[in-house]
Amino acid sequence: MSERRRVVVSRRLPSEVEAALAERFDVQLNPDDAPLTTEALRRAIATADALLPTVTDRLSAEVFDGASGRCRVVANFGVGVNHIDLAAAVRAGCVVTNTPDVLTDDTADLAILLMLAVLRGAGAGERRVRAGRWDGWGPTRDLGRRLSGKTLGVVGFGRIGQAVARRARQGFGMQVLAWSRRRPSAEALDGVTWVESLDSLLPQVDVLSLHTPGGAETRHLIDAHRLARLPAHAVLVNTARGDVVDEAALVDALAGGRLAGAGLDVYEREPVVHPGLLGREDVVLLPHLGSATLESRTAMGMRALENLVAVFEGRAPRDRVA
Ligand code: 8YV
Repeated sequence: MSERRRVVVSRRLPSEVEAALAERFDVQLNPDDAPLTTEALRRAIATADALLPTVTDRLSAEVFDGASGRCRVVANFGVGVNHIDLAAAVRAGCVVTNTPDVLTDDTADLAILLMLAVLRGAGAGERRVRAGRWDGWGPTRDLGRRLSGKTLGVVGFGRIGQAVARRARQGFGMQVLAWSRRRPSAEALDGVTWVESLDSLLPQVDVLSLHTPGGAETRHLIDAHRLARLPAHAVLVNTARGDVVDEAALVDALAGGRLAGAGLDVYEREPVVHPGLLGREDVVLLPHLGSATLESRTAMGMRALENLVAVFEGRAPRDRVA
């Protein structure tokens, strides 16, 4: 590339990624890491050749309204793009890309971590030890439930759903049922039983793990009616997007003893967590850690860089979503 393209990066990224971006582009980094305002995002779309946003940037139609035709690409850092108005981006002449594959293993690992933490009471136990409230071991104290050999329901059977199913089957000898909007190939299923309707999957599982994209189509997919179809001993794990679950209905189901626990990494109004969850011992609450390893976050940045370079060199980017 002869000229240096101007790229606005909305949040602080791993230093290796920032250095690689700075080598190729006239890059505006964000060393303070404060999320950009709507006005700053509008300015970026109007004045830069590319924006590299994250899940904390709400890229609404308003942000793209001010487009001048200069911005060619929005290279999202992350696989989920439900925070981006894709139609508005396309109208503004921007290609949108994401970063699949590189965070699959870490996010699947975290889903398993949450399953274990909820069933084995790891959150409540850890809180008790730290608070100096552990008064010793006892044969009938702190009894959780076993994960191994149980039945897992996977909702959404893309890369991450499949990686969770593989871990559950191979690592924990679980039976795995899956539901997704499109029937997966026999090769993708690989020993997993696909169930045609979500409502018929729910009563059969001990653990339900969510792996659908967020956005209008999946908003409150798990609502009061669906929660009521789960057995009362079941636990829910969400590492997908907060709005896939009706959080108020989840709080009601837990409080009413109609669900045994929940492991959540994502929330409807991040970083605000429903107050009805905060005091509960049967939930494990993580701060959106799905891809939070140095390995994934570095690979995500490099993948976004690769997508930017492809667009600027007139090639089809590997991860185009709009
Ligand atoms: C990312 C995620 O950290 O990739 C995703 O969709 O949910 C997270 O793991 C986040 O999106 C970064 O933008």
